[in-house]
Formats: sequence, structure tokens, C-alpha cells
Amino acid sequence: MRDLGRRLAKLLRAGDLVMLSGELGAGKTTLTRGLGEGLGVRGAVTSPTFVIARVHPSLGDGPPLVHVDAYRLSGGLDEMEDLDLDVSLPESVVVVEWGEGKVEELTDDRLQVVIHRAVGDTTDEVRHVTLTGVGDRWSDTDASVLSA
Ligand SMILES: Nc1ncnc2c1ncn2[C@@H]1O[C@H](COP(=O)(O)OP(=O)(O)O)[C@@H](O)[C@H]1O
Ligand SMILES: [Mg+2]
Repeated sequence: MRDLGRRLAKLLRAGDLVMLSGELGAGKTTLTRGLGEGLGVRGAVTSPTFVIARVHPSLGDGPPLVHVDAYRLSGGLDEMEDLDLDVSLPESVVVVEWGEGKVEELTDDRLQVVIHRAVGDTTDEVRHVTLTGVGDRWSDTDASVLSA
């Protein structure tokens, strides 16, 4: 998942919203860690206990990574609005865990990443990932870098 994140970072630019779905432990934060490495941002991406959103500035001239864990957000729009994601999105890559039903209104375009871990399979740590681009932004994306 981390390696996939590194590769996925090559496709991302400022203004992109990435929504990550999958059960607890699926690898959403691990993928985001790879995204942070691929984007070349400062600070380790972690699972924040109290922090809902963390900004990782670029170490170069790329966009910052805004990592949101919406798990504790009730879905109330005002709580979401307090994060000012609409303000950060144009110049950032915004990655949201557990964002379904909470952040879609931020933009017409988004990349949805759904992570499946095989149920009942304790020895195999393979994940199955489905990426779905929503909106014009993703209509002619060449995803071949992902399988490199
Ligand atoms: N292929 C894999 N991809 C992602 N995580 C894995 C994988 N194999 C094992 N793991 C472990 O599963 C856990 C995933 O946790 P995390 O990324 O925090 O998930 P989430 O953010 O979806 O709750 C980590 O402890 C990680 O080490
Ligand atoms: Mg997480």
C-alpha cells in the first residue's frame, strides 16, 4: 500500500481530492504515508489520535499534503467547514480517510480509492484496491504508472 501510494503521488497535483475507503486496518493511512513520500512532503504521515487534519508542507516546490481523518467527524457540515478544506484544496492535495458523505461537496472531481482486505485470510496481507476517478479531472488519466 505504501508503494502504491508512492506511485499514485505521480498522478496528483494541487486541487486533487482523494477519498480513501476501507475498514479499520485496511491500509488507508499506510497508503497516505506513501503518498506523502511520493509528493516529498515534510513530516511522517500517522494515524492521528486527536488531530483531525494535518498539513504536510512540501519539501520542494510541490503542493502540500492535507491529510484528514474524518472518522471522528459526525458528518455535520459545520464541523467539516471548520477545517477550511475548501480554502486549502486549490493549492493542496487533500486526502481524506472515512470521508464518505462528508467531503464530496468540496469539488466536482475526486479520486475514490476503495481498499479490500480478504476476509478471514490471516496469513496473506494482500490488499485489493479499486480506484475510481469522478469528474473531468480524471477522464483521460493514464494510470499506467500505478502498475509500474
Ligand atoms: N499490504 C498491506 N497494506 C497495508 N497495511 C498492511 C499491509 N499488510 C499489513 N498491513 C498492516 O495493516 C495495518 C494498516 O493500518 P492503517 O494503514 O493504519 O489502516 P487504516 O488507516 O485503513 O485504518 C498496519 O498495521 C500495517 O502494517
Ligand atoms: Mg487510518
